[in-house]
Amino acid sequence: MNLVSTRYAQSIAHARRIAEVIPGGVDSPFRAFHEVGGDTVFFDRAKGSKLYDLDGNCYIDYLGAWGPAILGHCPEAVVTKCQETLAKGPVFGAPHVYEMQMAELVIAAVPSVEKIRFVNSGTEAVMSAIRLARGFTGKETIIMFEGCYHGHSDATLASDGHQSSSGIPGGARAATSLARFNNLNSVESLFQTQKDQIAAIIVEPVAGSMGVIAPDPNFLSGLRSLCNEYGAVFIMDEVLTGFRVAFGGAQNLYKVDADITCFGKALGGGMAIGAYGGRKHIMDKLQPEGDVYQAGTFSGNPLTMAGGIATLKLLADNRVYETLEARTAQLFAGLRRIVEAHQYPVQLPRVGSMFSLVFAPEPVQNFQDSLTIDAQTFAKFFHYLLDNGIYLPPSSVDAACLSTEHSEAEIDATIDIMTDAFKHCFN
Ligand SMILES: Cc1ncc(COP(=O)(O)O)c(C=O)c1O
Repeated sequence: MNLVSTRYAQSIAHARRIAEVIPGGVDSPFRAFHEVGGDTVFFDRAKGSKLYDLDGNCYIDYLGAWGPAILGHCPEAVVTKCQETLAKGPVFGAPHVYEMQMAELVIAAVPSVEKIRFVNSGTEAVMSAIRLARGFTGKETIIMFEGCYHGHSDATLASDGHQSSSGIPGGARAATSLARFNNLNSVESLFQTQKDQIAAIIVEPVAGSMGVIAPDPNFLSGLRSLCNEYGAVFIMDEVLTGFRVAFGGAQNLYKVDADITCFGKALGGGMAIGAYGGRKHIMDKLQPEGDVYQAGTFSGNPLTMAGGIATLKLLADNRVYETLEARTAQLFAGLRRIVEAHQYPVQLPRVGSMFSLVFAPEPVQNFQDSLTIDAQTFAKFFHYLLDNGIYLPPSSVDAACLSTEHSEAEIDATIDIMTDAFKHCFN
C-alpha cells in the first residue's frame, strides 16, 4: 500500500462497499470524484471551518456543504435550538409558531418577499415557483440561461448544460427557452418571437455552476424591465446567493426586485430547506387560497424552521458579512498575487464569499466560455489540495464557499498550500 492510499484507507474501503448499494456511491452526482478521479473521501464530522474524514484527516473546508455552512459547521446557537426542537417533536404535519416566525424573518430581510412557502430543497422551491408562475400567468414557456443550475426538476434540466439528463419529456424541453447569461439581446429576441407564451424568466443572479459569474451592471435590471414590459414573472433563484452574498441576498446587493425568489442552502443553517416567496397577489394563487398545488409532509417542519430562525438571527448581525468579505478578500489578494506573478492561466472570480478558481486562460462570462475550463489541470490541483488538507468542491465549474469560521491563519495556510499546488500543476 502506498503512502497516499494509507492516508485514505478507511475511505477507500467504504467507497468500494457503498458503490454496491448506492449508484455511483453518492446520493448526488457531483459529490462523486468523476471529474477529478480517484475514490471519494468519507467524512465523519464537521465543526467550524473544518471537515474530518474517517481516517482522522482534517481539512480546511471550502465546499461549505455546497453552500449551507455560511456560519461554519455546527454553529452552537443553531445546534442548541435544533436539539431543543427535536426533543419537542421534529414534525407535526400541522401549523406551528416556528414557521410563522421564520416567514416573518425572511419577509423582513427581503423587500420583494411579502409571503413565503417553505419546502425541503432548492429543487422543490424552483419547481414550485415555476408552476406558480405558469398558473399565475396562464402561459407555459420559461426562459432560463445556458449553464445556470436550478436543481433537478424536469423543467430546469431541459437544457444541456454542465448538468443534463436523459429521461426529460419532450414537452418539458419544448416549454423551456434558453438565453445567454449577461446577454439581454438574447432574452429580448425570445420575447419578440414568443411574447404571448412566456410565463417567466428564471435566473441565478450570480451564476455559480459555470465558474462564478457576476451579473453585468444592467443585466438583472434589464431582465426586470423585460418582465414588466411583456407581463412575465421574474424569478430569481437565490438558492445559492440568498443570505450568502449579502443579508437579503443578491437582490439586496444589486438593488433589483424579483416577483418570486427561491431560497435554500444557507437559509436553514444545515437543515434540509427550500423556500419560495414573493408578491402577495402571486403567492395567494397557491392552494388553498388559489388553484396552484404545492405540498409536502416535511415542508416547514419545526426542526428545519428552528435551524433557520437561529441562523437568520445570527446572519442579521452586519459583522457576519464584514467577516466573510474580509476573509475572502484576504484569500483572493494572496491568490491573485501568485497567479499574476507567474501568469498562471487561472481566473479568480468571486462575489462576496462565493468564489471559484477557474482554470481557463480568459475570464469566463457564459456557458460557452466555461467549456474552455481545463478540467484535467483542475483535477491535479484538487488532489494536491486534498492530500494537503484542503477540501474544494470536486468540480472545476462549481462555486466554492467560505464561512465566518475560517480564521486569518487558515486563510494564510490555504494561500501557501495553493501556491505549492499551482507549482505542482504548472511548473
Ligand atoms: C442556484 C441553485 N438552484 C437550485 C439548486 C438546487 O438546490 P437543492 O440541491 O437543495 O435541491 C442549487 C443547488 O446547487 C443551486 O445552486
